[in-house]
Amino acid sequence: METASWLEEIQAALQAASSWGEVEAIRVAWLGRRGRITEALRGLGRLPAEERRSRGQALNALRQAAEAAISSRLEALKAEAELAALARERLDMSWPGVVPRVGRLHPVTRVRQLVEDVFLRMGFSMVGGPEVESLWYNFEALNMPENHPARDMQDSFFVNVPGMVLRTQTSPMQIRAMEAAQGRLPVRIIATGRVYRRDDDATHVPMFTQMEALVIDREIGMADLKGTLLLLGRALFGPETQIRLRPSYFPFTEPSAEVDVTCANCHGSGCRVCKETGWLEILGAGMVHPTVLRNGGYDPDQVSGFAFGLGLERVAMIRYRFDDLRLLYQNDWRFLQQFGRGEDGW
Ligand code: PHE
Repeated sequence: METASWLEEIQAALQAASSWGEVEAIRVAWLGRRGRITEALRGLGRLPAEERRSRGQALNALRQAAEAAISSRLEALKAEAELAALARERLDMSWPGVVPRVGRLHPVTRVRQLVEDVFLRMGFSMVGGPEVESLWYNFEALNMPENHPARDMQDSFFVNVPGMVLRTQTSPMQIRAMEAAQGRLPVRIIATGRVYRRDDDATHVPMFTQMEALVIDREIGMADLKGTLLLLGRALFGPETQIRLRPSYFPFTEPSAEVDVTCANCHGSGCRVCKETGWLEILGAGMVHPTVLRNGGYDPDQVSGFAFGLGLERVAMIRYRFDDLRLLYQNDWRFLQQFGRGEDGW
């Protein structure tokens, strides 16, 4: 019978269809307004009555079968598409995650925080001042008049403004702090910041960081300086650390000293780091010169004081055991990532 072969034809076409669009085209061809089944149903009226009935039943059955076959094919295609999408979009939960790079504190920042902490606990206040400084504060007020040979020790960067330099040391903060204190006692400050000198080799960079300390009160002596420095040395390099003061010269202190700590690497027995001496120089210090006290508005007959200046890059170099200071400012991630993790308290 004709309707049976039509159904076979429809099923074969559906089987070959691989998309919703192809199935839809088949539906239109058979069941659409001008579809073959639709046309056949429409033609029933022209048939003799006895034929019309059985033919009508067969065509209606065919239409239902075709509709069922079409919707089951659509279901099957939908299921196939879902499976394909699942396979395509599969997430492998066992893949390692993407670890974000975590920023770390710069070694100089770590050292700065540690040192500032020690002094804040001892009752010092923190002050800050300009990096572009006048010749008066940077040199003259500190007993370094023009043509003073000590100015050569700190080869300066000059700026376009006459009478101004990039400060070569944090010592101008001694004068600024005394002025701000207006004669009150005690003066007990630290000042950390960048300083600039025309220097560039493995142990000098043109910009580095100093921490200045200044104490002024009645009856301040060398013992106060030594005690403070010993405490600082131990905070930086461990409780076994010893210090040593060697006579030196700075125009703004008298007497003056270079201060060494026992080598953090060999603890004094001598090694490559300390060039077999057992000692490492870390700072300059001394008793504040009478002229400097006067320039700050204090009477050297009434008060005395001590001061020192510490290079933080040098401390970082000793503490972290690297031998080229320039590494600190080249911003090589491979270098910097080794520090500032904090698990050793650093
Ligand atoms: N300002 C001196 C320097 O930069 C260090 C220093 C500070 C020395 C305070 C004595 C007192 O070399």
